[in-house]
Amino acid sequence: MRTKIVAGNWKMNKLPSEAAALIDGIKDLVKDVQGVEVVVCPPFTDLKDAAAAVKGSNVALGAQNVAWAESGAFTGEISAGMLKDLGVEYVIIGHSERRQYFGETDETVNRRLKAALAAGLKPIVCVGEKLEEREAGQMPAVIEKQVKEGFADLSPEELAKIVIAYEPVWAIGTGKTATPKEAQEVHALIRRLLAEIANAEVATSVRIQYGGSMKPANAKELMDQPDIDGGLIGGAALKADSFADIVKAGV
Ligand code: PGA
Repeated sequence: MRTKIVAGNWKMNKLPSEAAALIDGIKDLVKDVQGVEVVVCPPFTDLKDAAAAVKGSNVALGAQNVAWAESGAFTGEISAGMLKDLGVEYVIIGHSERRQYFGETDETVNRRLKAALAAGLKPIVCVGEKLEEREAGQMPAVIEKQVKEGFADLSPEELAKIVIAYEPVWAIGTGKTATPKEAQEVHALIRRLLAEIANAEVATSVRIQYGGSMKPANAKELMDQPDIDGGLIGGAALKADSFADIVKAGV
């Protein structure tokens, strides 16, 4: 059985001086939750305070990106070693906003992913089609390319360590959620692709989150789908009560 995982992607929100208060609120509301892994992914500048705030709790810490290089002349980048040194456990890679605004490609996703795995960070890799791609019937081909190229040259053992987030771009921050049936169909496709590039065991064990306007009102019916193992939450992760309600919907 796969343990559900609900992660909050804070995006570029919350000052360093605000991070601890939000985490304290979340910690308090989810302290008795069992059977769902809880992760918060604040901006880099909040990570030090966030690491102190999550200490000793059942909330894990994640970052929103990681460099492919270990160190050196890469102005503006943050390495896996720097994240590990702060106590970061998870890292989001290939979010659609990075692909859309910052030139992230399946190739750079693959390089960042390898760096994260080499350092022992747990990657949360995002895939998802745009609205025009879905409408043109290209969703399966887009997902297949993102999975096969993003996860290229990884062993089954490495693939087993990845969390995948299926985030249809048209559902992110729009209030428009994929229906449970639409999401389930893509999650099942991703599992078939994992069986192809790794094996049946990896396909069964890898956790696949849904992301895109997940909120307390729709979280349960999404996570009740057989292949949906949690959520990657944007807007609703910025308030302790709505984030905690989504976590509890996964129990
Ligand atoms: P949203 O964002 O929940 O605000 O739609 C999800 C995400 O981008 O990870």
